[in-house]
Amino acid sequence: MCGIVGYIGKEPLISFLLNGLSKLEYRGYDSAGIAIHKQDSIKVFKAQGKLDNLRSLLKGNEEDEKAFIGIGHIRWATHGVPNEINAHPHVSFENKVALVHNGIIENYKELKEELTVKGFVFQSQTDTEVIAHLIEDCLKDTKDFGHALRCALKKLDGAYALGVLFKEDPETLYAAKKNAPLIVGLSDKGNYIASDVPALLEYTKKVIYLNDLEVAEIKENSIKITDIEGKILNRKPEIIPWEPISINKMGYKHFMLKEIHEQPDVIRQTLFNRLTNQTDPIKLDEVKLTEESLKNLKRIQIIACGTSLHAALVGKYLIEEFIGLPVDVEASSEYIYKRVVSDKNSLTIGVSQSGETADTITALRLAKEKGSHILVITNRPDSTMARDADSLLPINAGFEVSVAATKSYTAQLLAFYLLALKLAEINKSLPAEKLEEYKKELLHLPHKVEMILNHTEEIKKCAIKFNSSKDFIFIARGINYPVALEGALKLKEISYINATGYPAGELKHGPIAMLDKTMPVVAILVPGKVFEKVLSNSEESKAREARMIAVTSSDDKKLESVFKYILKVPQTDEIFSPILTTIPLQLLAYYIAEFLGKDVDQPRNLAKSVTVE
Ligand code: M6R
Repeated sequence: MCGIVGYIGKEPLISFLLNGLSKLEYRGYDSAGIAIHKQDSIKVFKAQGKLDNLRSLLKGNEEDEKAFIGIGHIRWATHGVPNEINAHPHVSFENKVALVHNGIIENYKELKEELTVKGFVFQSQTDTEVIAHLIEDCLKDTKDFGHALRCALKKLDGAYALGVLFKEDPETLYAAKKNAPLIVGLSDKGNYIASDVPALLEYTKKVIYLNDLEVAEIKENSIKITDIEGKILNRKPEIIPWEPISINKMGYKHFMLKEIHEQPDVIRQTLFNRLTNQTDPIKLDEVKLTEESLKNLKRIQIIACGTSLHAALVGKYLIEEFIGLPVDVEASSEYIYKRVVSDKNSLTIGVSQSGETADTITALRLAKEKGSHILVITNRPDSTMARDADSLLPINAGFEVSVAATKSYTAQLLAFYLLALKLAEINKSLPAEKLEEYKKELLHLPHKVEMILNHTEEIKKCAIKFNSSKDFIFIARGINYPVALEGALKLKEISYINATGYPAGELKHGPIAMLDKTMPVVAILVPGKVFEKVLSNSEESKAREARMIAVTSSDDKKLESVFKYILKVPQTDEIFSPILTTIPLQLLAYYIAEFLGKDVDQPRNLAKSVTVE
């Protein structure tokens, strides 16, 4: 999704803006632009498409490196098509203000009407442009630029992270935020802004995370932060505990493939210090609820979007199975528009790779208002969600570049296994031997994932065979049903092939009408409670001539008469099988997309971090 950078200081400006934006590129975008303050005016450069187009546009402007202050942006279109006019920065009517914006201004239509009546002329179809004109309008009544910015902000409904330049204030970079992340970076070579940490890591680790409704007035050697009324706030910088991120494919063709192959280590990392031995209790010191309150929980709800929602569904299954407590799973975007049923006896778990998904942030805040304890499972302990949380369970998957989530999903699953087993320990709801057996199997999973990754020939064959299919159906039951949903989502996201996941028992209630000899059906079936049931649903599909593919750990000969392609995973207890059955589906999606020549790491229309509602 959109990304912001800005700098004030004497280091090469354009190099920073382009490099900073390149570190945010992985988030997905469709145009890019920068604005710099040069000789009493603001110069703007914008280009549709990838950052390279902006780089080409800037060739021959090397002199601009010496400019002292500038802002940059990559845009993921929300209002108006992705073209040069709608790209940021946007400039006010009389060119007095230039700004970049992440977020959505909900009342932009009303504001646009008011400003049009006042004589402001709009160039773009964006919501952002109103902010530039609004600040310029406020400047009519004051010479204080910070005041003009705050005056405009008070009129905005919605979400914003802003970097702002004023033509008549060449010594200050302005920034503000509400419901969208923005950080200020401090260094002895000048000061920075960015919408996410990776943009700054090469330059500084000393940052201030702006809070909602704060405004920063940033000079080369000083920073003033005020609230929306102009009251000066005393904000102390903190040090980001990250090393510069090496955004490097390490010889893999795509980040997605690299990240799929990182999964054995990611599992080890997520287990590290939490489960080292099957006979020891699981350590989850991050969960700040007392054992007593955990025992007294009446209900758990899990809120998430996309792939994280699929991890949540596995989490529901585990907690209900291990401790018998009711668990509701809701898509964040649904949760926020219904009556919030939550209280102090409930635990609300938010799951998010990025920790910045707008819908999930809002949903968790609503649950918190009702008194629920908020536990966040995220890959970004520095994110808004993590900072809002009462308890934080980091998943240690490492930086995930590919828009399609893979290793973060597996690490989220691991977090749920640890949490569910911890709850079972506390509630003594599983026999001690069973608990031990489960912990032992968890420790074996990294090796079993390695075994799948070392034998991908059959998956590749399958991808070659099926890449021209127009539709796919994924079926499973029980704990593998969310895996069917995730397999279908992965395929859709990166290959643009229509794919749907169903509980296998639902086939006969409608989807079976779709089956004929052109339709691939991927069945996930492992020995256990529902094996025979999924097999029988697969036989029903085969009887309709569907092209059958199995993901299984079973050696049962019966499978050969039903499935033309059998993608094997090592044996494990059914309860742990999602960790293994997911991997061939990630690879199947990857190889199909790669074969079709798709932009695997940055699929069309998608963003890594969905910071707008
Ligand atoms: O960062 P989050 O986990 O909150 O993101 C949620 C979804 O946007 C995300 O999982 C999305 O579905 C990915 N593209 C999945 O590959």
